[in-house]
Amino acid sequence: MRGLILSGGAGTRLRPITHTSAKQLVPVANKPVLFYGLEAMREAGITEVGLVVGDTRPEIEAAVGDGSRFGLQVTYIPQSAPLGLAHAVLIAEEFLGDSPFVMYLGDNLLKEGITPFVRRFAESAPDALILLQKVADPREYGIAELADGAVKRLVEKPAKPKSDLALVGVYLFTPAVFASVKAIKPSARGELEITDAIQHMIERGLRVEPHIVTGWWKDTGKLEDMLEANRLILGTIERDVRGDVVDSVLEGAVMVAAGSRLERCTVRGPVIIGADCTITDSFIGPYTAISDGVVVEHAEIENSIILDESRISHLNVRMADSLIGKHCVIARSDSRPVAYRFMVGDSSQIGVL
Ligand code: DAU
Repeated sequence: MRGLILSGGAGTRLRPITHTSAKQLVPVANKPVLFYGLEAMREAGITEVGLVVGDTRPEIEAAVGDGSRFGLQVTYIPQSAPLGLAHAVLIAEEFLGDSPFVMYLGDNLLKEGITPFVRRFAESAPDALILLQKVADPREYGIAELADGAVKRLVEKPAKPKSDLALVGVYLFTPAVFASVKAIKPSARGELEITDAIQHMIERGLRVEPHIVTGWWKDTGKLEDMLEANRLILGTIERDVRGDVVDSVLEGAVMVAAGSRLERCTVRGPVIIGADCTITDSFIGPYTAISDGVVVEHAEIENSIILDESRISHLNVRMADSLIGKHCVIARSDSRPVAYRFMVGDSSQIGVL
């Protein structure tokens, strides 16, 4: 069995972070979301993985390399434009050959990885296995209608959903899928939809088996989902303090990497702090992930993700529910007039008091 991970696309819902960075490389608990997918492949015993990449290929290639550090052999499959999930399958045909494969959307995260589904696919040998989970807003996903436990119809992001069972971003296929991805036409949003290709497989009389995912699943394409994925992963970490901790209180599951220094702080886990950070006179609250080289001074932060080399300084109100990009500065200024002073990129969001 081979793996196909989709790591192209635009990432519009995570702008401005994705103006400069691939959405699949935004870290969840200080690890790029894409790495969870790569690790899940290896755990399931898959070693040959095709990585579909778009404009952000250089950054993804710099992070993943040849895949050997994950125990994988990674082949890059360039996609000229994000023309749809089924288009990604189409251009991967040469790599996949006549092997069955797992397709994994590079911004998805599943508690149980993919091993149980790979096993189930091998045991029950359908033409396709799709994973489903109930969601609050079915209009944002591909949706499956079931009848007597069988898949009756699949619709991509329906305006009036007839079911709340969403397609999870992991699909298992036999090469029978290729005839269907070649037969379908682009959708109203101009993409070749994998949802339509699977619907086409059903209409050809092929066996498409549904499986309800019981463990948590997150599509990290939006800020709230990214923060929730961060909470779910941080909820599983254990205390591991390697940096210097001076006159500080660390409560619960707190990870501090080597090279970081905390002075006069309270850190209430679960919290992860990367390498070479300097945190002084601050409170770091639950569900916060701080990447490498960050400086925090006289500030309170909770339920947030702070990326590399940013500085948060002298805030007089707690910062919460935030995603801060790389090399950002958020600092109180005492100069007159008393005013908010911003320099923010396109599509940024700021909540003021
Ligand atoms: O997360 C599950 C949902 O994923 C499913 O319920 C939907 O049926 C499915 O269409 C998909 O919807 P999204 O709108 O969330 O897909 P998105 O455009 O975010 O793309 C998913 C991943 O695939 C993302 O990592 C980018 C990558 N991608 C996307 C497209 C359209 C590519 O590599 N190439 C592409 O052409």
